[in-house]
Amino acid sequence: MSNEDASVTSAIDTVRSDVPKHIAIIMDGNGRWAKARGLPRASGHERGVEALRRTVEGAADIGIRYLTVYSFSTENWRRPASEVNALFGLLKLFIQKDLSRLKREGVKIRVIGRREGLPKDISELVDKAEFETAENDTFFLNIAFNYGGREEIARAVKRLAADVGSGVHASSDVTEDLVASYLDTAGMPDPDLLIRTSGEYRLSNFLLWQAAYSELVFFDVLWPDFDQVWLMKAVEMFRERERRFGGVTPEDN
Ligand code: IPE
Ligand code: IPE
Ligand code: MG
Repeated sequence: MSNEDASVTSAIDTVRSDVPKHIAIIMDGNGRWAKARGLPRASGHERGVEALRRTVEGAADIGIRYLTVYSFSTENWRRPASEVNALFGLLKLFIQKDLSRLKREGVKIRVIGRREGLPKDISELVDKAEFETAENDTFFLNIAFNYGGREEIARAVKRLAADVGSGVHASSDVTEDLVASYLDTAGMPDPDLLIRTSGEYRLSNFLLWQAAYSELVFFDVLWPDFDQVWLMKAVEMFRERERRFGGVTPEDN
């Protein structure tokens, strides 16, 4: 075991008791990673999938239950068709290659975001991944694909409005909890910790409702270089934060 592995293992022992339940990650910087190496952007995305595999494994190892990763935004359609196709191809490959292993390991997959407009082969594969892992409850992996926070909220409001129109709910029943139950993340805890790689300091339309009180961590590392050591660093930073949720610290009371 290398020194680095040993320090990760001892850090894992100390955090197990106090890890965030739900981590959300904006996996950014694949293009810059590839560019720095004179490679096509698509190879940065390929290496990004490796980082995702390491992260799922690392998160499960330290006792995190929910991981939500941003893999294609509603705004990413603005990229050249060749890159959009490469990203779709990678989701397909990820599901085809990893589904049986994830299923065996007790991972429940949910793909959040807009389904309309996705190519038929992708939406069928997504349905299959969700269906085959529906009974799992060891670890919850949410893949945000064709996802935008505003689009998710608008779609939720549209369904809620239809239910109010048909008398399922009265307009006076509309509460934060009711709205949340119409979102793609219905039934899940909000992310405690949100990580963005690549040195950009913005949410880029990710989990706008759910991240209202998430602790934010920004790293300069490019996503393909992300690993369990970075994940541990984020968890350590999270543990040092004082979460007040609008209240005051007990000693100031
Ligand atoms: C993140 O990497 C992956 C997606 C947005 C799909 P980018 O492709 O945004 O990489 P940069 O930001 O251009 O380096
Ligand atoms: C956010 O990254 C979307 C994903 C990581 C999937 P972008 O690279 O698309 O975000 P911007 O354009 O820098 O805001
Ligand atoms: Mg980017």
